[in-house]
Amino acid sequence: MTPLLQASDITRSYGDLPVLKGINLQIQSGEIVSIVGASGAGKSTLLHILGTLDRPDAGQVTLGGENVFNLNEKDLARFRNDRIGFVFQFHNLLAEFSALENVCLPGFIGGKNEQEVRARAEELLNILGLGDRKNHLPSQLSGGEQQRTAVARALVNSPAIVFADEPSGNLDSHNAEELHKLFFRLRDELNQTFVIVTHNDLLAHMADRQLTIRDGQIV
Ligand SMILES: Nc1ncnc2c1ncn2[C@@H]1O[C@H](COP(=O)(O)OP(=O)(O)OP(=O)(O)O)[C@@H](O)[C@H]1O
Ligand SMILES: [Mg+2]
Repeated sequence: MTPLLQASDITRSYGDLPVLKGINLQIQSGEIVSIVGASGAGKSTLLHILGTLDRPDAGQVTLGGENVFNLNEKDLARFRNDRIGFVFQFHNLLAEFSALENVCLPGFIGGKNEQEVRARAEELLNILGLGDRKNHLPSQLSGGEQQRTAVARALVNSPAIVFADEPSGNLDSHNAEELHKLFFRLRDELNQTFVIVTHNDLLAHMADRQLTIRDGQIV
């Protein structure tokens, strides 16, 4: 089966600090893959490259048949907005917009039909148990609700893949567990693919596959 994502011989240094020393990996559609490793091992660096937010020094990433780093900046930005979702440790919701408006934003940025984006955003907020919170500002939501709103925002354009960097790092254990269950529900119900960097052992082990980065390589 052709993998959804393929990374080949990815290297990345910061100045004279080599961080990634030849990363090769494949992700199949519908998989949940966790990435673990010590602090400073290069997990976020790798996730940013796989998510096209950063370019490697060498190596290739192919996502959905597209050799992403062959795209120019404008086409890459469009590809990223359409096909890739992100969830970070801190939700980064815009404070002056409601939950619903925050979820809609990537759809509006992509120039999609406003009614369709709104309907999709409402559907996602309902699935994530936030239907009755959609008109609240982020400051009026709990930490768990804020993070679930960020997940809805990541999904609004129906991306091929969602990258999450320590998505539950800022949540208590109950809210973390709820968020983790949600990832698996979204995979089971929508076949959503996730690549999740985590220090949470439970989540790392629940994943279909766990990749460990050590000394700049996957071991
Ligand atoms: N922009 C940057 N400039 C210089 N060095 C950087 C930069 N970003 C990261 N590094 C260094 O690269 C290494 C890998 O960083 P990275 O953030 O990928 O680690 P990580 O595995 O995500 O760690 P953590 O678990 O603490 O989040 C670290 O030594 C870090 O200090
Ligand atoms: Mg990190």
